[in-house]
Amino acid sequence: MMSDLNVLTLSDALAQAAGEVEQALGDLLPVPDGAEARVVHAMRYAVLGGGKRMRAFMVMETATLFGVDRRCAARVAAAVEMLHAYSLVHDDLPAMDDDDVRRGKPSTHKAFDEATAILAGDALQTRAFEVLAEHDTHSNADARCELVLALAAASGARGMVGGQMIDIDAEGKTLTADEIGRLQALKTGRLIQFSAEAGAILGRANQMQRHLLASYGRDVGAAFQIADDILDVEGTAEDVGKATGKDAAAGKATLVAILGLDRARAQADALSVQAASHLDSFGDKAAHLRALAALVVARKS
Ligand code: IPE
Ligand code: IPE
Ligand code: MG
Ligand code: MG
Ligand code: MG
Repeated sequence: MMSDLNVLTLSDALAQAAGEVEQALGDLLPVPDGAEARVVHAMRYAVLGGGKRMRAFMVMETATLFGVDRRCAARVAAAVEMLHAYSLVHDDLPAMDDDDVRRGKPSTHKAFDEATAILAGDALQTRAFEVLAEHDTHSNADARCELVLALAAASGARGMVGGQMIDIDAEGKTLTADEIGRLQALKTGRLIQFSAEAGAILGRANQMQRHLLASYGRDVGAAFQIADDILDVEGTAEDVGKATGKDAAAGKATLVAILGLDRARAQADALSVQAASHLDSFGDKAAHLRALAALVVARKS
């Protein structure tokens, strides 16, 4: 089975992982009876049927390095996508980036209402941790606890939420390149780093292997956010599935704003090459992860 997967092209492997995580997400979010069904419909709206599933793919591929059962990996991939979807639902709210379109359809607060969107984000977050803690995710309680710890650290005030706070605080200010690097490492990098480390946690890998995958995730994450900022300038709303040209209008602190497109692109390319270099010791089994590092800077959506 593993060798079959290794001969898949990157796009086939991405599609396969996306299918597995879609199935897991659907199963993990059953709609209850009663008036609370509305929030679950909003959660499902936010997380199902869209997105590139890059974080999910990183979980699945790093888990493959250690021969982890794909159903277990898909649960962790689903948890990461729930956490990520929550961050997008809240990021789009009027109080934050005020975006009406996400993944080519109305943002959750537009399709439902603001209160429901806030609650759906909250519940996607807690469901993500619940899934990690459930026995089906890993038979070893230490492994489950490590997953919970690592995702919590990546998501909270010292991770994604902290980065979002800096991002909002920096609107209209001129940050240095180092300050922007730190903002983006927290806002985007930490969750992508978790996604790359997750396979090592699931596979009970040694500290060196986990460290190498964390370094890979950190560099992919940094390259990924620069690419997102470039697409905000160069991309079309149709391709990226969200409004473009918003960062400059909001005075967002991005490398594009302080360095210009060409130097920002050079920085993203260098980070992508550096990301792949951390995978040398994994050999051919890491071919898809290497190709993914190249894709994040070449992508058009
Ligand atoms: C968007 O993430 C938010 C950023 C961190 C730039 P993605 O570009 O991965 O969004 P989806 O999941 O594909 O919609
Ligand atoms: C958001 O970054 C990162 C999150 C933690 C959600 P952006 O605000 O640039 O993401 P998009 O461009 O709205 O997807
Ligand atoms: Mg934002
Ligand atoms: Mg935004
Ligand atoms: Mg953006």
